[in-house]
Amino acid sequence: MRLIDLRVAFTEFDTLEELPSEDQELILQARKSMSLAYAPYSHFQVGAALRLENNVIVAGNNQENASYPEGLCAERVALFAAGAMHAGIKIKTLAVVASSENHKIDKPVTPCGACRQVIAEYEHRYKQPIRLIMMGESGKILSADSISQLLPYLFNGDDLKAK
Ligand code: THU
Repeated sequence: MRLIDLRVAFTEFDTLEELPSEDQELILQARKSMSLAYAPYSHFQVGAALRLENNVIVAGNNQENASYPEGLCAERVALFAAGAMHAGIKIKTLAVVASSENHKIDKPVTPCGACRQVIAEYEHRYKQPIRLIMMGESGKILSADSISQLLPYLFNGDDLKAK
């Protein structure tokens, strides 16, 4: 028996200006998309923007439904749009921001479990880590070099293959 002590690493920024300009731009695009979210049930708006290897930015926001489970998170809206419209182009960075009509979000919002799994799929598909940048409406900004920092021991297509 032995203990497997996994460590994860994040970078925390105090202000947006500390980030490279291309990441600042991604946050701004995510905010723009957040303002267009369709969230009449949760009143919690999320925006996501991803940068492809060719520098094209694809954005998405949460899309809710009266039949609650049929809605989709901002991250998956953006990832699936990129997968559909820019198939084969690697994803470099994904930024996520959130705001709420009910309270101030002053800490970074992190992707839900289902979105983590989908982000992992695109890392596996393109054989390249996706850098994540997470922020609330205000406050600190968190970044991670790969979804493996948020989803250790993840499941992917390799697990379906015979060794
Ligand atoms: N949501 C996202 O879009 N991304 C997340 O990472 C967390 C949650 C959405 C889903 C739902 O529309 C609302 O936020 C409240 O859960």
